Amino acid sequence: MAAVSVRDLAVTYAGVGRDVPALSGMSLEVGDGEPIAIIGPSGCGKSTLLLALAGLLPADAGEVLVGGEAIARPRRRTALILQDFGLLPWKSVAHNAALGLEVRGVDASTRRTVVAEALERLGLAEFAEAYPGELSGGMRQRLALARALALDADLLLMDEPLSALDALTREDLQNLLLGIWQQRRHTSVLVTHSIEEAVFLGRRVVVMSPRPGRVASIVDNPGMGEEGYRETAAFLERCVELRRLLAAEGAFRDATLAGGVR
Ligand SMILES: Nc1ncnc2c1ncn2[C@@H]1O[C@H](COP(=O)(O)OP(=O)(O)OP(=O)(O)O)[C@@H](O)[C@H]1O
Ligand SMILES: [Mg+2]
Repeated sequence: MAAVSVRDLAVTYAGVGRDVPALSGMSLEVGDGEPIAIIGPSGCGKSTLLLALAGLLPADAGEVLVGGEAIARPRRRTALILQDFGLLPWKSVAHNAALGLEVRGVDASTRRTVVAEALERLGLAEFAEAYPGELSGGMRQRLALARALALDADLLLMDEPLSALDALTREDLQNLLLGIWQQRRHTSVLVTHSIEEAVFLGRRVVVMSPRPGRVASIVDNPGMGEEGYRETAAFLERCVELRRLLAAEGAFRDATLAGGVR
């Protein structure tokens, strides 16, 4: 069970001479097996929220619960995928995929079996002995996903995982992410700057306020996951609604959102 509860969370970074409140009064409930997307102005605390959900950043106030348990340190079945994929360039594809299992103390022969399965599933089996530097951007992203699958993650946290990819590869991997979720039904929290991506992959889309971040609004998106959803009027309506909500939060003063607004 990996339902997520964020209750009145505050996180402040201590800086030289001044403190930066990144999140304040942030509350959010994510159901077990629910996929949500989070979108908001740059610097509003989205990455901070994911780090807090992963148990990597302490709360200054409030709390984070996963599966009913307060999170104070990383949890075994939570996987976090960062924008730079977190791959170690000097280790092979298979070794990178096994890293999560290794740090959790899983024995070598189990690691080999589980990793082989995950690489197979993501179409990377023949690259098991290659190094990350020999992979394309899309393949690196699939490797980061393979690592999460190898962990049998029930909570998948993703911080703009596809933003470095070209449009075609990106759409391909959006479909892959959807397919994996439809198969596994894990709880999924995706941070993205793309409105279309949020509507494609989030059953609900959470709009955050500017820093210090909290939930500004939530858009229900019941059609998510339906066959051909991208081409429907409902999809477009959700995109338009989100664009308005983001504009109200002042998001478009920021160039990083431009890619998602076209
Ligand atoms: N390690 C840190 N030390 C000090 N301040 C930080 C640190 N990390 C983030 N901040 C500050 O906290 C605020 C929120 O940062 P965060 O990275 O969570 O934003 P974000 O919403 O992920 O932004 P972006 O959309 O640009 O990725 C920012 O103002 C940032 O300057
Ligand atoms: Mg960020």
